[in-house]
Amino acid sequence: PEKAVLPSRQQLFDFHGVSMIPIFTDNWENVQNFQARPDDILIATYPKAGTTWVSQILDLLYFGQTERQKTIPIFERVPFLEIAVPSLVSGKDLADKLTTTPRLIKTHFPVQFVPKSFWEQNCKIVYVARNAKDNMVSFFHFDRMIAIQPEAGEWNNYFHRFLEGQMVFGSWYDHVNGWWKKKQNYSNIHYMFYEDMIEDTEREIDKLCSFLGLSRSAEERKMISGGVQFDKMKKNEMANYSTLPVMDFKISPFMRKGKVGDWKNHFTVAQNEVFDEDYKKKMKDPTLQFRTEI
Ligand code: A3P
Repeated sequence: PEKAVLPSRQQLFDFHGVSMIPIFTDNWENVQNFQARPDDILIATYPKAGTTWVSQILDLLYFGQTERQKTIPIFERVPFLEIAVPSLVSGKDLADKLTTTPRLIKTHFPVQFVPKSFWEQNCKIVYVARNAKDNMVSFFHFDRMIAIQPEAGEWNNYFHRFLEGQMVFGSWYDHVNGWWKKKQNYSNIHYMFYEDMIEDTEREIDKLCSFLGLSRSAEERKMISGGVQFDKMKKNEMANYSTLPVMDFKISPFMRKGKVGDWKNHFTVAQNEVFDEDYKKKMKDPTLQFRTEI
């Protein structure tokens, strides 16, 4: 295939009240008209919350260790619905072309942006959330190394932008809260946490199986859990994004650390105080709790 012309770093703009960049809004009409099927599974996350990890787990749960796993990169097995990079097949078209069932589809949309057919078809949705401090750090290193996102810039500035919601896909606070609230009137959401997966991957896979109505043997679940540990996935070229040219792993690899608490290596004491103070104001719902260490 012809070598794609890659866009340069894009600028944030306000899109229906959410900071976005054009590659995630240019295909808006088509994405909004996406026709979900009842057995589609939507994997929804704020960027850097563990999307790839859960995608790989779901792919293994449904399709096992097959040729698919060895030859197709994760971003083709699990299309990113709203992405539309000029001269590349859009995520929506990739999803439309999937022939395997169920279709696993990824989105970073805040809940109010999700195409209506997912709700109409009562699709199962797996939402993964990660504590804001580690999520911010992971996003910072990602923005440094990926050529299409806005420049990460200097850490202290990034820190404040995160608190203000000036990130691609908007405010972390709005995202995790919006999806959490949705659970109240839409029961087909499984809301999970990155920290829980780090603590006990097998337990979280068990919960996923219950939610999805899958009966996988204890042995299978153990195999999958072992196969998706950080070091394994970091080496797995079909899961580690090394085949995607827009990322510069010399700056920071996609599979960077995979830890809970790396924020402690980035936040200053003063930043941590500012963060905690601000957090209390924004996170009023006592039923939604995050762990910043385990
Ligand atoms: P870090 O930057 O903190 O290392 P996403 O897939 O949503 O973009 O999230 C990427 C983050 O998930 C990165 O976090 C990445 O290292 C981490 N991650 C990916 N696979 C993982 C795994 N198998 N175990 C633990 N963390 C994983």
